[in-house]
Amino acid sequence: MIFRQLFDGVSGTYTYLLASRRGGEAMILDPVIAKVDRYLQLIAELDLHLVKAVDTHLHADHVTGLGMLRDRTRCITVMGEQTKADVVSMRVAEGDRLTIEGIALDVLYTPGHTDDSYSFVMDDRVFTGDTLLIRGTGRTDFQNGDARQQYDSIFSKLLKLPDDTLVYPAHDYKGDTVSTIGEEKAFNPRLRVRSADEYADLMAGLHLPDPIMIDVAIPANRKVGLAQDDFAARGWAVSAAEALALVGRPDVAVIDLRERSERARHGVIPGSLHAPYRDLAEHIGRGGMIYELAAATNKRLLFYCAFGERSAMAVQAAQDMGLATACHLQGGIDAWKKAGGALTR
Ligand SMILES: [Fe+2]
Repeated sequence: MIFRQLFDGVSGTYTYLLASRRGGEAMILDPVIAKVDRYLQLIAELDLHLVKAVDTHLHADHVTGLGMLRDRTRCITVMGEQTKADVVSMRVAEGDRLTIEGIALDVLYTPGHTDDSYSFVMDDRVFTGDTLLIRGTGRTDFQNGDARQQYDSIFSKLLKLPDDTLVYPAHDYKGDTVSTIGEEKAFNPRLRVRSADEYADLMAGLHLPDPIMIDVAIPANRKVGLAQDDFAARGWAVSAAEALALVGRPDVAVIDLRERSERARHGVIPGSLHAPYRDLAEHIGRGGMIYELAAATNKRLLFYCAFGERSAMAVQAAQDMGLATACHLQGGIDAWKKAGGALTR
């Protein structure tokens, strides 16, 4: 396994790069925008292919690297379903599994620091975001933070993991890099409380100053979606209302780019083909399923995904391959549902 803990000294942020092998798929957790060149250099040096960029929550102390990594690698951006970000490619929820080749992260919803805070369990370790820090916990005084919820996330979820589970937080300001659940149970001063009320009192007494970058970071992190201004002008975007009239027509091929777990949870547009985004390059190349379908039938290709970001990247890639009939469902299945579109499961 490839496991790299990277550090941004300005914000004290830890970023994690994960892959199962050299030459394989990679995932990055909590990337910082100022370090994107460094991540991409390391990814190239290790011969990796970045497929997912994940934020544990909407950060207030640094601008996320999610948008820039997506623009430079066409990777999928991921956050929890409560995120206030305008668009991320994929939203996860408690009980989901976030996967890349050879690696699976179990998704835990751990609100309290913010209402969109998640932790991710991978084999012998857990990425705790700003929920549980080394000998500390994340502040709960902004972005819908809630000390009682955080108490619950820590005591009912994270501390239930085996004691030897390695704890990798999103921040450290003292130079510590890793801990364990057992160590935090024994020595974390914030956890020496007997109830949620006592914990809430402790957190309410902290009176921390706002992070220096809060006024820049939060607005920037809420606007991470892919710029698609010229898609409609080029005829590459179809609204959900327009799609209602296109789906089911014999001259239109509807193609779902989502993963199996998303299809099971949210349903499928009737009659659509399934071609997961991660295999897109293969499908739209000469000899690939989508390329040959378009060449043989001249059908219009209507891509869709969860929120319209993967499908927008797919349209761009397909158009680059000369597939001139490619367009996408703007806003994804989310918009389709809101327009009253039918679903099958
Ligand atoms: Fe945070």
